[in-house]
Amino acid sequence: MRFYLDHAATTPLRPEAREAWLAASDVVGNASSTHGAGQDARRLLEDARESIAAVLGCDPIEVVLTSGGTESINTALVGLWRSRPEGTDAVVLPDGEHHATMDTAAALAADGARIRAVPISTTGGIVLDEFRAALGGAALATAIVANNEVGTINDVAAIAAASAGAEVPLHLDAVAALGHVPLSFRDLRADAGGGVGLVALSVAGHKIGAPVGVGALVVARTARMAPLLHGGAQQRGLRAGTQDVPGAAAFAAALVAAEAERKTEAARLRALRDRLIDGVRAEVPAARLLGDPVDRLPGNAHLLFPGAVGESLLFLLDVAGVAASTGSACQAGVAEPSHVVMAMGGSEQDARSVLRFTLGRTSTDADVDAVLGAIADAYSRASGSRSGSRS
Ligand SMILES: Cc1ncc(COP(=O)(O)O)c(C=O)c1O
Repeated sequence: MRFYLDHAATTPLRPEAREAWLAASDVVGNASSTHGAGQDARRLLEDARESIAAVLGCDPIEVVLTSGGTESINTALVGLWRSRPEGTDAVVLPDGEHHATMDTAAALAADGARIRAVPISTTGGIVLDEFRAALGGAALATAIVANNEVGTINDVAAIAAASAGAEVPLHLDAVAALGHVPLSFRDLRADAGGGVGLVALSVAGHKIGAPVGVGALVVARTARMAPLLHGGAQQRGLRAGTQDVPGAAAFAAALVAAEAERKTEAARLRALRDRLIDGVRAEVPAARLLGDPVDRLPGNAHLLFPGAVGESLLFLLDVAGVAASTGSACQAGVAEPSHVVMAMGGSEQDARSVLRFTLGRTSTDADVDAVLGAIADAYSRASGSRSGSRS
């Protein structure tokens, strides 16, 4: 038996998404062509865009479809940077963001940006006063809605209001939050005017049961954003290239389904997750929950196992049929300590001793039982292997 507790890396395809993809894949035609076939494809595409916009609380024209979170984040940050107001060169970057954001910011730094780092708290939340203080005269700011590793949910309404007040364009990375946290682009833009305040928001389909390879960047009509890709004039010229109609249809179907069950699923996952956390602590009394105990993603259990190597735990659990993660899936295979745990004040050793269990739509009590049945033995062996390998 295999038990999948890595839904934050990617979650199983929803049947609604598969059906929508298959139905749309029968429609021949480039959505930019003016003939009837093209217009059939166009109709499907625009229906999908409308559904996505309805869930995200924006206008359909503001939905720019992309290949996923990484592309959306790159498009937003590079695009805002290239269109920055004259005389500005600072980029407000909280610690502990996803590598898609950190590495894009590093590319901007190589292009002359001055990075203003904002600390996160010991529970992984962006420190609001520090964020506010960093905004003055900045070219752009970015923030993660919910941390993908430790699951802490930020006060993005306050972050958006502060950015609007300081007249700085803001991008939000909502990839980990999508489907779990209520999000309304329109509401978060309540204080925004022109091209400042919240202007861009990134999401990815595969985190909510759409196929990998489709995502979106919501871009406010008034945003000043240069395109990353050059070519056709599709999608307001912000994302050139023939549009993926089946991908859009599948994303829309998954998003609508995820939103319909968001509240009931959140309650169900919270209960499962709390049983997992309490059970792990009973099996391994030394284990400690990281992240915010209250403001956290419903399916996220991020635990520190003092004295054990996370990679070893991961391997031993995998042998027992349990799939978990040490953090961001993008890092898997690279034995780096978690930059998030270190930004929260953890030591490098702590940052190598963490495991993330994430639950999702297909999770059941059997998944939790599998972890609880395997964790004590894995911990005692992984702690042993650590002292052996370090001596
Ligand atoms: C918070 C966050 N941002 C960005 C990404 C990158 O998204 P994608 O894998 O769709 O490129 C991820 C993926 O794990 C994520 O969790």
